[in-house]
Amino acid sequence: MKKSILIKSLVVLIVFTAFVACQQEKKKVINFPMTDLSTENLIPRPLKITPTNSAFGLDKNTIIYTSQNAAGFPEVGKFLSEKIKWQTDLDLAVNSTTKATTQRIIFINQSDSTEFSSKEGYDLYISQDSIILNAKTAEGAFRGIQTLRQIIPEVSNDTLSENKMWLIPTGKIIDYPNFEYRGSMLDVARHFFSIDDVKKYIDVLAYYKINTLHLHLADDQGWRIEIKSWPKLTEIGGSSEVGGGPGGFYTQEEYKDLVAYAAKHFITIVPEIDMPGHTNAASVAYPILNGNGKTPKIYTGTEVGFSTFDTRKDTVYSFIDDVVREISAITPGPYFHAGGDESHVTKKKDFIYFVSKVDKIVKKYGKRMIGWDEIVHADIDTTAIAQFWANEDNAKLAVEKGLKIILSPGKKAYLDMQYDTLSKYGLHWAGYISVDTGYVWTPERYVQGINKENILGVEAPLWSETISNMDELEYLAFPRMIGYSELSWSIEENRNWDDYKVRLGNQAPYLDKMNVKYYPSKLIDWKKSKYTYKTINKD
Ligand code: ACM
Repeated sequence: MKKSILIKSLVVLIVFTAFVACQQEKKKVINFPMTDLSTENLIPRPLKITPTNSAFGLDKNTIIYTSQNAAGFPEVGKFLSEKIKWQTDLDLAVNSTTKATTQRIIFINQSDSTEFSSKEGYDLYISQDSIILNAKTAEGAFRGIQTLRQIIPEVSNDTLSENKMWLIPTGKIIDYPNFEYRGSMLDVARHFFSIDDVKKYIDVLAYYKINTLHLHLADDQGWRIEIKSWPKLTEIGGSSEVGGGPGGFYTQEEYKDLVAYAAKHFITIVPEIDMPGHTNAASVAYPILNGNGKTPKIYTGTEVGFSTFDTRKDTVYSFIDDVVREISAITPGPYFHAGGDESHVTKKKDFIYFVSKVDKIVKKYGKRMIGWDEIVHADIDTTAIAQFWANEDNAKLAVEKGLKIILSPGKKAYLDMQYDTLSKYGLHWAGYISVDTGYVWTPERYVQGINKENILGVEAPLWSETISNMDELEYLAFPRMIGYSELSWSIEENRNWDDYKVRLGNQAPYLDKMNVKYYPSKLIDWKKSKYTYKTINKD
């Protein structure tokens, strides 16, 4: 008898509690205005967007939850919270065990039942009271939260409730990338850029779902990475740059810190040591490496093609073995870029011999070799990857040999090409690349006979002969880099210049708030934002 009274009281208590909770919930009902997810300014454009024309009110009571036992998910939740704080000043709790769960929530959920196989895929369900992001991996979740960041409006709505509220349009997004490799390259050899500079570049790349940053770490004018077994590389080779500036280099500790920062943004670092050409700085440090018959001297000009390693000397291969070993040990990503371009003073048979030997060294240290398209002439197998930049015949030969291609055509994807004849920085040997020229091309059909299945992805290189600081770097990289993110993530049917240019103009508030000094192309109607900004060449 006593037991049944207890049970009855418990039932009453539960029903009452549920009723009270319900009443509290009712009090919170807000008549959200109509918003349309399909008109949001997302770049890259997601695969599929289905709007449901209401809104989720992001406010100070919103709580972020994540799958707790899935690797990396709580960290992705923390990253989102930090970025929401930066965007809105809201301090959102992550996986709070004390706050009431009757609030609107963002749930970042590990799920194997998503509709796609890509590890970077995600789906995002936004309703009035919850945002659910499903992804198989933390990497997918990370790409998904960039989408969410992009649809948080710049300004809050201050009339709907007591709290400031940022209205996020409701609906469903299903998304995964078209190409698995989506990259940019920074030449830190011609001019040196600090770790903080590169981190800022990574911040912006990650926002647009870029997943690879290739660092061109050695060239004629400078050597930029500490190699403990060959210390003069940085002592001597690191002390110069184009124009006679001080140069610089990354210690291995600094490089590791950069790699970890990139990894937190799900960006893979690809280190490049360009060889056998573009090696003057290494040969100045260790003249025994030199193979062009002249005494190497520090070089601060911008000519190419005059240097080479001695491809027939054992010491050269012991040197390369040490360099690849030391760099590979601090590079978790799967690739090592061995250059191979413009070796104009290396005899062809020596070049072939050299690249084949380097490929074996790269494999010995567990990496896949990437090389500029010239490497296809060497005796290499299909684990190597050819980066097409200039010669279509090389790209076709690569495909005949079964190699995958990274597309970086100079005429379309070189970030160091000038926008037009008035551009302050950059070169134009491959032509002028205006913002539309950089966007309007089809990687899947750019070289006849090279199809989607042959292409690993797209990379936009930024060579630094004419730029020596962040303002100049950003002038060339932005906004064009944002277009390459769409060209490599979004499917062909979802890419359209007229639609893209409107979404691009609406990136201005983000770029301004990030203090990115983008080139304000007149082709784009840049949205005015509340953040003050001064860009060079702004008119
Ligand atoms: C290159 O632009 N020399 C790869």
